[in-house]
Amino acid sequence: MATATEPEPRLRGDSAVDPRDNARGAKVREMFAAISGRYDLLNRVISGGRDMAWRRKAVRLAQVKAGDRVLDVCCGTGDFALMFAAHNPAPAGVTGLDFTPEMLRLARAKGEKLGAPVPWVAGDALRLPFADACFDVISVGYGVRNFQDLDAGLVELARVLKPGGRLVVLECTPARGLIGKCANFYINRVVPWVGNALSKSPQKAYSYLADSIAVFPGAAELARRMTRAGFREVTFCKLNLGTMAIHVGVR
Ligand SMILES: C[S@@+](CC[C@H](N)C(=O)[O-])C[C@H]1O[C@@H](n2cnc3c(N)ncnc32)[C@H](O)[C@@H]1O
Repeated sequence: MATATEPEPRLRGDSAVDPRDNARGAKVREMFAAISGRYDLLNRVISGGRDMAWRRKAVRLAQVKAGDRVLDVCCGTGDFALMFAAHNPAPAGVTGLDFTPEMLRLARAKGEKLGAPVPWVAGDALRLPFADACFDVISVGYGVRNFQDLDAGLVELARVLKPGGRLVVLECTPARGLIGKCANFYINRVVPWVGNALSKSPQKAYSYLADSIAVFPGAAELARRMTRAGFREVTFCKLNLGTMAIHVGVR
């Protein structure tokens, strides 16, 4: 929400999915289903080939120990989960969860090709199909911005983490200042133009990307909301000229 000092963000408004709609879950799923085949390619293109390095940094910050049980929520096509699966020291198990079957199919195919024994589970991050306190590490890459209820989603992640377990959130963050202006030009103009064309997204998924970043809480606010959801020692570092952040919190 905008404050007295921060004007309401101007949205493109040309996506079929409104990031302020707090009942948008089904529309988000349809949107990701439609772009699933081009999702990885678009990640590489719009990040200038940097997206895997950002995930690798998040994996390092997760400080996985031998025998940890890891859950990757909003796993998409599986890149983040598969990095955890290849981690040294090896976790006891890595599970990927997503609510878009088309994304999970691609993740499963990648996992099989790499021989990674990752169970790919269909489920909603807001109602995780797991018992309380059963994971040591949870990661969410570019997922929490899509939760139709961010606070409820963070509480649900806290529920399935063991006490002392770590949540790592890699997410885009609204950028400010001069760099913010350049980043906003890139995100609001270039990315939708390239992304919508290459993905042929009927919902204009890459306009949704720009708009959902614009309305998403800044990094300090996300840290406060993680704390309110039950995490302690919440820290964050910014990446890519302040346009992205990795938050870490302890349950
Ligand atoms: C931008 S993609 C990120 C994929 C992957 N984590 C990555 O790093 O590339 C967002 C993913 O979150 C999934 N998603 C969004 N909201 C979800 C929810 N409430 N429950 C489960 N999955 C969700 C979408 O289906 C999509 O695959």
